[in-house]
Amino acid sequence: MKIYGNENVKDVKDAFKNGNMTVAVYGLGKMGLPLAAIFADKGARVIGADINEEVVMKTNQGINHVRGEPGLDELVEKNVKRGRLKATTDLVKAAKDSDVMIILVPAFLDKNKKPDLGIVKSVSENIAKGIERGDFVIVETTVPPGTTDRVVRPILEKSGLKAGEDFGMAHCPERTSSGRAIRDILGAYPKVCGGINKKSTDTAEAIYQVINSKGVITVSSSTEAEMVKIAEGLYRDVNIALANELALISERYGADVFEVIKTANTQPFCNIHKPGAGVGGHCIPVYPWFVIDENTKLIKTAREVNDSMPEYVVDKVSKTLSEHGESVKDSNVLIAGLVYRPGVKEVYHTPAREVIKKLRKLGANVYGYDPVLSEDEMKSMLGVESPNGHKINCAVFIHDYRYNPKANIEHILTPENLFRNG
Ligand SMILES: NC(=O)c1ccc[n+]([C@@H]2O[C@H](COP(=O)([O-])OP(=O)(O)OC[C@H]3O[C@@H](n4cnc5c(N)ncnc54)[C@H](O)[C@@H]3O)[C@@H](O)[C@H]2O)c1
Repeated sequence: MKIYGNENVKDVKDAFKNGNMTVAVYGLGKMGLPLAAIFADKGARVIGADINEEVVMKTNQGINHVRGEPGLDELVEKNVKRGRLKATTDLVKAAKDSDVMIILVPAFLDKNKKPDLGIVKSVSENIAKGIERGDFVIVETTVPPGTTDRVVRPILEKSGLKAGEDFGMAHCPERTSSGRAIRDILGAYPKVCGGINKKSTDTAEAIYQVINSKGVITVSSSTEAEMVKIAEGLYRDVNIALANELALISERYGADVFEVIKTANTQPFCNIHKPGAGVGGHCIPVYPWFVIDENTKLIKTAREVNDSMPEYVVDKVSKTLSEHGESVKDSNVLIAGLVYRPGVKEVYHTPAREVIKKLRKLGANVYGYDPVLSEDEMKSMLGVESPNGHKINCAVFIHDYRYNPKANIEHILTPENLFRNG
């Protein structure tokens, strides 16, 4: 059932729940597959549209290809079996066969750290070839403010149809993290929806009210919705940079930064995050660059502070070894905590990569450990192996793992003593 233009939002909800609404989800990755499976589980007919043939084939067999997402295996299998979820590489046909098209492909940075919206644009071109009057297009990918209205909209209008009149559009940002996608999508916190006009906002609200138990917060336009998602990431990046600087200051004065932060946070206006070896993943180190310009000094400095932390860690290894008459060159150094966030099998922008690179440059033999990575994964993702009985001169615990890597370790740098003097 075509849903945009329907004055009665109850009809939209009924169409969704009764299987009279077909949704195409573009991008069946770590975020897209959970979203597609949840839409199907709540009643919609879902077509996953992805260029990766293996992802499409596996999905059509009811196999979840995303690792470490609790509940997703069952959700994919169940909804493929009952005929509500299927996948295709035919991106235009997916649009032709759908009433709602959701864009959830990645947006990257180019080598100059400028937004690279190539995939979002290419998906929009495909949707434009299949869009019909009454369709509704949702951008969930985190994008620079204004993208839905000024980048995606003109591409869709190449169809000859007019946004806001013939079809609706909204930005409804993915507010989730890997490893907890299902919980987040179903309602760990409310969904944010901003349309290109009121009718679009109302339509998006009706759709996500069926999914999110915490409800929907509507904002004035798609641009506010885009800004909300960017603001959430900026808050964390700047806050972590502050925590990192507090760590350096605490070290200077011989104070325990973790005790300082924990105690400061007992006051209700204080919510300082934790210091560490840097900031990784697809989101937080990337999104600030969507908005950084000559006026955003704080945000840019925060990025620089967080990006400098691997160097700090390497200096600390150097100092620790030299205090014991040893040098980094030819030392065996173990990096424990290779993924960007404990427990999540993801090494995109992980600080460990920079730490390893810098230590190798100084001549260290670097070994690795992470409980979520197998030996083969450590090798292929980061080019390191387990110590396998080698004596370790210095081990750096980037994450707070309470673990004994069964290696003979001389000096250990944990997150706590990384920022401690002596
Ligand atoms: N991963 C996270 O923790 C996270 C958290 C919040 C928001 N997000 C948002 O979700 C977006 C997607 O992230 P992800 O982690 O799901 O990415 P991902 O890399 O896991 O998956 C992307 C999928 O898109 C497919 N794809 C690539 N080009 C395509 C094209 N032209 N047409 C159709 N499909 C195409 C890929 O084959 C892949 O299956 C991110 O850019 C971000 O905006 C991600």
